[in-house]
Amino acid sequence: MEPAAAEGGRYTYEQYKQTADWLLARTEHRPSLAIICGSGLGGLADLVKDPVTFNYTEIPNFPQSTVVGHAGKLVFGTLAAVPCVVMKGRFHMYEGYPLWKVTFPVRVFHLLGAKTLIVTNAAGGLNPDYEVGDVMLIRDHINMPGLAGINPLMGPNDERFGPRFPAISDAYDEQLRALALAVGRELGYGDTLHEGVYCTLGGPNYESIAECRFLQRLGVDAVGMSTVPEVIVARHCGLRVFGFSLVTNKAVLEYGGREKANHAEVLEASQQAARKLEHLVSVLVEHMKAAGLA
Ligand code: HPA
Repeated sequence: MEPAAAEGGRYTYEQYKQTADWLLARTEHRPSLAIICGSGLGGLADLVKDPVTFNYTEIPNFPQSTVVGHAGKLVFGTLAAVPCVVMKGRFHMYEGYPLWKVTFPVRVFHLLGAKTLIVTNAAGGLNPDYEVGDVMLIRDHINMPGLAGINPLMGPNDERFGPRFPAISDAYDEQLRALALAVGRELGYGDTLHEGVYCTLGGPNYESIAECRFLQRLGVDAVGMSTVPEVIVARHCGLRVFGFSLVTNKAVLEYGGREKANHAEVLEASQQAARKLEHLVSVLVEHMKAAGLA
């Protein structure tokens, strides 16, 4: 029998469990690492060995992906001999999903046994030192919808996942960030690899010039429309988190110019630089395993 939805349309513990059990019954992989791929960055899923793939449409309770560049597949397998589950295509607030739906897969990953979550996204560069194709390790975030009272943890708290008032000040794992910077140096990424602050906005429109100037003054280095809700839910249930932004465009900060952000440009830039980010993640996973962090 289908578990009933909780009050307010939220998922119940039983629904997360039903999805996790459904998946565990259909694959022998037991992932310790979960990866969420951003726009145009789903190629990481193609690096997975011995893949067992599910379309989101067949997985009980799973939301459906509606954006071009987001495929809607869950891939189990191994990356650098680490058992993992990779989301090729994520959910966004701008698709009309409430954040408890956007973050549904994260709690399923937790129930599958994953201990670490890696998130990737395409983002606009606000830091003047960032160029298109650069990669930013996320050191911290600004949750703009959260500041306005929209948070995936709003509503009744289920202590089986985590505490009512979780800390978020250490969300992006320090050890993994240090390891990633070392891996980036080893791979010769030099000053195309940065560490900075990511800000999420609701979207779907790109930012106005005044908004970009505002965000820059707040200390934001890269801006996007995803990632933070998943990170909050992951930290709530105790996953170790690590994230990258690929700079796919430079934010527009001056009036009178002709350039403006568009999705085709974002996808093109991510396709061009995707291999670099995918390589960085797969070498990082190798090092994580060697260091006993995966
Ligand atoms: N703004 C918001 N989201 C984005 C951008 C941007 O400039 N580029 C890629 N995702």
